[in-house]
Amino acid sequence: MKDLIKPSTKIHTIDDAIRLSKKRLPKLVFDFIDGASGDDKLAEINSTALDQIRLEPKVFRNVENRNLSKKIFDFNFDYPFGFAPMGMTNLSWPEADKMIAKESAYNNIPTCVSMASSTTLEDMFTFSEGHSWMQIYIFQSEEFIMELLKRAEGIGYKVLILTVDVPILSRRARDDRNGFGYPFKIGPKQFLDFAIHPQWSLTTLLKGAPKPMNYVTSKSGNQIFRRKESRGTTDWDTLKRIREAWKGKLIIKGVMNSEDALKIKDSGADAIQVSNHGGRQLDSATASINALPLIRKALGDDFPILFDSGIRSGSDILRALALGADFVMFGRPLMYAIGADGAKGLRRIINLIKEELSTNLGLVGLTDINEVDKKIIAEKFFKDIKY
Ligand SMILES: Cc1cc2nc3c(=O)[nH]c(=O)nc-3n(C[C@H](O)[C@H](O)[C@H](O)COP(=O)(O)O)c2cc1C
Repeated sequence: MKDLIKPSTKIHTIDDAIRLSKKRLPKLVFDFIDGASGDDKLAEINSTALDQIRLEPKVFRNVENRNLSKKIFDFNFDYPFGFAPMGMTNLSWPEADKMIAKESAYNNIPTCVSMASSTTLEDMFTFSEGHSWMQIYIFQSEEFIMELLKRAEGIGYKVLILTVDVPILSRRARDDRNGFGYPFKIGPKQFLDFAIHPQWSLTTLLKGAPKPMNYVTSKSGNQIFRRKESRGTTDWDTLKRIREAWKGKLIIKGVMNSEDALKIKDSGADAIQVSNHGGRQLDSATASINALPLIRKALGDDFPILFDSGIRSGSDILRALALGADFVMFGRPLMYAIGADGAKGLRRIINLIKEELSTNLGLVGLTDINEVDKKIIAEKFFKDIKY
């Protein structure tokens, strides 16, 4: 079917998307997306640490034609990036999940479907034309998880992401302050917040408040999404059981140290995702980009590493690839873009990222994204980061 989405003309940078979404969304929703845990600083530290890695322009290379396509596992994608799993995405705008899935099909890139998504695994697979990967947390009953795995396999999912950095949900002060929780409770403060953001509120009222649809549609019934429930009993045996149950590719997301990474590799997982959950879990952790080169060194050249947390631009993708990532994922930028201008906002932000990635690949003197390595980093900074 023909794609009729025209890129937004209101957005020229990621900061535009942040500013516009802040205006259009209720404070409670914007803060849920934008917020980080504890002292609320790590999300910014992630991006600042990326920013501090400077690249080196190279001249007199013929960079007229450039290739951005990337293979991971057995899949050929048109770009070296995809969309990170995000629960309750439809809060940023009704049908945000659908917009994200369709954008991934349009660009031939993967989209990760959170088990807490507001759209079913089945619908996401259809909207994304098969570009969906499934993400689970270990929580609630393991029986429910096993049911989800069977369900995903039946639909045709080939990749599972097991997120392991939330054994206990960290506190987010902004959510507490705004009275944000699930199930939603609407008191006078929230009512006022919704009333002064009528476009979001009326659209949401019309389409219905988002629900965790994979729970709602569970065949075993009685599955209730409890966001704050502890998943603290997860251990290495849990990983063994998931590995045995899932025959497709298995990515372990939320790994920040080499010792864990090596043990995960030995356990038979197919890849890890270096991530500090966008700064939403251990607030005193280091920026994800700092952990990446050390983990790459420990794992050797061949084990696939995905990366997220703080990626905001094409240059950031180059930085992460240079420091050892094979593939990069975007989180909040998708929500900011949709919050700012719906599907058009998302199209615009993805176009900007693709353009910048292609331009800057040429400016560092390369024509193929698969050739990116640490040599694109400005030498004196490169020495500082001790790869
Ligand atoms: C609103 C929101 C919801 C999220 N929900 C999930 C989730 O359900 N599962 C998961 O593994 N990670 C979740 N994450 C983390 C993202 O997958 C990703 O690790 C993080 O957003 C990347 O950082 P960035 O936002 O700086 O790009 C969520 C992040 C945000 C902002």
